[in-house]
Amino acid sequence: MSNISIPRLGVCYYPEHWHKEKWPTDLDAMHALGIRLVRVAEFAWSRLEPNAGQYRFEWLKEFLDLAAERQVSVILCTPTPTPPKWLVDQMPDMLPVDETGSPKKFGSRRHYCFSHKGYRKECERILTQLGQAFGAHLAVEAWQTNNEYGCHNTILSYSQAALSAFRDWLQSKYGSIEILNRAWGNVFWSMEYRSFKEIELPNLTVTRPSPSALLDFMRFSSAQVKEFNRLQVEIIRKYSPGRTILHNFMGRFLDFDHFDLCEDLDAAGWDSYPLGFLTQMKVTESHKLRYLRAGDPDFSAFHHDLYRSCGHGRWWVLEQQPGTLDWATYNPSPHAGMVRCWTHEAFAHGAEVVSYFRWRQAPFAQEQMHAGLNLPNGEPDQATNEVRQVVRDLIELSFDAVGPANAAILFDYEAAWTLQIQPQGSDFDYFDVVLRFYRALRRLGLNVDVISQRESLDPYRIVVVPSLPIVRDEFLASLRKFTGHLLIAPRTGSKTCDFQIPPELPPGCLQELIPLVVVRVESLPEAVPISVSWNSGRYACGSWLEHVRSPIEPFIRSDDGHGIAYRHGKINYLAALPYQTLLDAIVQELARAEELPIEVLPDDIRARDRGHLRYYFNYGPQPATLQLPPQTKYVLGGPELPTAGVTVIQR
Ligand code: GAL
Repeated sequence: MSNISIPRLGVCYYPEHWHKEKWPTDLDAMHALGIRLVRVAEFAWSRLEPNAGQYRFEWLKEFLDLAAERQVSVILCTPTPTPPKWLVDQMPDMLPVDETGSPKKFGSRRHYCFSHKGYRKECERILTQLGQAFGAHLAVEAWQTNNEYGCHNTILSYSQAALSAFRDWLQSKYGSIEILNRAWGNVFWSMEYRSFKEIELPNLTVTRPSPSALLDFMRFSSAQVKEFNRLQVEIIRKYSPGRTILHNFMGRFLDFDHFDLCEDLDAAGWDSYPLGFLTQMKVTESHKLRYLRAGDPDFSAFHHDLYRSCGHGRWWVLEQQPGTLDWATYNPSPHAGMVRCWTHEAFAHGAEVVSYFRWRQAPFAQEQMHAGLNLPNGEPDQATNEVRQVVRDLIELSFDAVGPANAAILFDYEAAWTLQIQPQGSDFDYFDVVLRFYRALRRLGLNVDVISQRESLDPYRIVVVPSLPIVRDEFLASLRKFTGHLLIAPRTGSKTCDFQIPPELPPGCLQELIPLVVVRVESLPEAVPISVSWNSGRYACGSWLEHVRSPIEPFIRSDDGHGIAYRHGKINYLAALPYQTLLDAIVQELARAEELPIEVLPDDIRARDRGHLRYYFNYGPQPATLQLPPQTKYVLGGPELPTAGVTVIQR
């Protein structure tokens, strides 16, 4: 995973929202600000084809020409997230159907079902036209497929199109209905099917549907998105060879397998809205207040690392929050300097591009309360000055590739689905568990790679496996060869691929690595923490507790004698979910054992290395002072870090 391109800035622009007289001056202003990429057309289908077969591409051509004249490159987006009214009226059964069986209506966006064959054909048609018209245009440097697959809860659709595609998918997966019945455990509650034609979608059941059916439905739905995306990629490659093809993924979004979809892309992209994401996190109120104007110190960083991995080293921020938002529970203003800080954090993790959403705030329609770099009347808003500062900063910095980290954390979409289908306790949230482990590593000043089960573990000294119910053979094979410290969270190895308890009991195949068997699991309310004393510290675990049978003495016990953590050589198994401070202490012990270069950071400060540069960021509401040796060579800033401050030193 490496990346040596010089970071660039971009912006999202909607030419169709503004009179064309504004285009040249807007492009000039972008260029003067240091913006070299502009992302267009993702929601413009009704202007590109106002009536069936009546293409109106002149305006886009004119805009692309203006961009090319100014050496501003374009990320051209496919307009498929917003099918126009005439198309929906032509085939109303293309609408997605929600879990209650109600079709969604026209009037916003994403009103399509991924499985609908007719809609796919329409997408192919418009895309072929666009590819032929603009694939070779000088300005077009990259393509974005669609927009935020799955946003507004749109991956799972319970339509007729989905039902028939699901039946076909199951038929080709299982071959025979007896095998499916066995895999799903359908003898239970007389759920047996006699043929694939009888299969139902797993919604509107009286009580819980089969977890195996649900898991297959999520796998199927993920595969539908991949197919939908691949159709787009194939057309773009045909008409626009050599351009970077990417997609703008979201934050904390788990409904399809991003690693899998990215096999067809040249790079990953994601949309970073730190203040909105914070409001959605399951963290304490005091944490939310502390980081109200900065965002969680680890949330964006985690996604930067995740998408670097999805994109095989190549990734962009396609939408960066520029000011206040309009969609979160509340929408505060970022600290002065925060947009600059977020931008540098992305570059520190290897982003090739950071593109702000959007150039100018729209005075009309749904997002009129969402800030841009400029006010609706065109006056620059606060972020414009910060972008100007970023451009000056970049002149001071020279960039190397992002090398592999010492520590890796395993991230797995199927694990998220499995735990969502059967949480076994309302406080068990896969993403929160993952972020807790990531935070522990990052608070030690370590760089972290976020990896899938397919990745080689050779570069790493520490590998963390947050709850991974289904362990794939290839990952087990990598674990066997791994020589560093391994930290395994509860529920790992607790299910087979068919969503059944493994015959040898959890942690299933991992018993080969550490001799223990989980014979009972408990989920507990928050009000019942488990107290732990360890290495003269007082800590707690909560929400999950496993009863383990093992010849090994646990190295951490609860105050009432329950085994909390087991170690066999360098393999560590957690039989409970430690709260942050205990997890920090455990991870620190492993990092010390591996002699990793740790730097225990103050609460609000985070660090990231990129080649010869080491970055420090202050997410806290108070200024901080870095404790660095006197001979430190500062490239940007100094030891005093104001709120939203960025310091870069020579490593
Ligand atoms: C993203 C989306 C954009 C815009 C933005 C507002 O989810 O891709 O089109 O809606 O949110 O924050």
